[in-house]
Amino acid sequence: MKVIRSPLFYVGDKAKLVPQIVPHFPKDIALFIEPFVGGGSISINSPAKAYLLNDFNTHVSGLHAWLLEQENFDILMRKIEGRIREIGLKSSFLGDAIPEELKTEFPKTYFAHQNKAAYESLRALFNQGTDKDFLDFYLLLIFGFNRMIRFNGSGEFNVPVGNVDFNSNVADALKNYLNWASKSNIQVKAGDYRKAIEIEDLPINSFFYFDPPYLIAQAEYNKSWGESEELEFFNYLDSLTNANVKWAFSNVLTYRDQTNKLLVDWAQKHQVVDLQSNYISYHDNGDKKPREVLVKNYE
Ligand SMILES: C[S@@+](CC[C@H](N)C(=O)[O-])C[C@H]1O[C@@H](n2cnc3c(N)ncnc32)[C@H](O)[C@@H]1O
Repeated sequence: MKVIRSPLFYVGDKAKLVPQIVPHFPKDIALFIEPFVGGGSISINSPAKAYLLNDFNTHVSGLHAWLLEQENFDILMRKIEGRIREIGLKSSFLGDAIPEELKTEFPKTYFAHQNKAAYESLRALFNQGTDKDFLDFYLLLIFGFNRMIRFNGSGEFNVPVGNVDFNSNVADALKNYLNWASKSNIQVKAGDYRKAIEIEDLPINSFFYFDPPYLIAQAEYNKSWGESEELEFFNYLDSLTNANVKWAFSNVLTYRDQTNKLLVDWAQKHQVVDLQSNYISYHDNGDKKPREVLVKNYE
């Protein structure tokens, strides 16, 4: 299966699990709803007649909305190239060579050294602006450390420069996303997952895929998710099941020494598919494999 990478290169994205997850989805989907969309790796790789993408992080949903506004790849690339030149960033895709002295002096981190000053001035400009500029935000993401999205308590984007650049993989991801978008009917929303759509408004053959924060694993977006959020989420899934709506969701049942007991109990009444886990964390020492699963309410 050919997998399209999301242009958001989302930390913890599901790109590697697409071949294991997507074949379990229903074949004929009228509306594919992804209420915790993040980078959207699953949506962009799932055939459907229409899509509804939602994320309560307005920077994430805003990036999708901004990408969907773009006319085509060539016009977007011209805007990106113009801004990269204006700011003084260097990009291998745009043919910028790395000076040999920089490669010798910093054999593993020359991209970061090359772009640090320009990146920091772009970040300062972005943080000064009241109306967020998504082209600048996208460039901060692409040139930022681990392609992370992170803000400090005062709402300032605070990711340092990364040892990455705008390369051909980045360009391919953009092109593929815009190609998918041009052939699809896509709506983006920013809010809590329960507000993405009213159950009464669902067309026949709607399907939900959820990738919520995990109760027992650590990531930036997992911090606000505790036991009460987990139980509310199960209630929401139950309400969909009661309305005869199909759904599937990704999660981890065990992670290092922890077990998500709430999920183990609740999942007994559903189908649980084991996945070959790719869950890697910088806390891991690799001696204990997490149990990563897809839970679904249909055969
Ligand atoms: C695990 S990530 C999704 C990653 C995605 N599957 C991918 O492949 O890129 C979970 C997302 O849920 C969002 N989120 C967390 N709580 C939410 C809520 N209550 N309602 C809507 N979105 C939420 C976070 O902002 C985050 O982007």
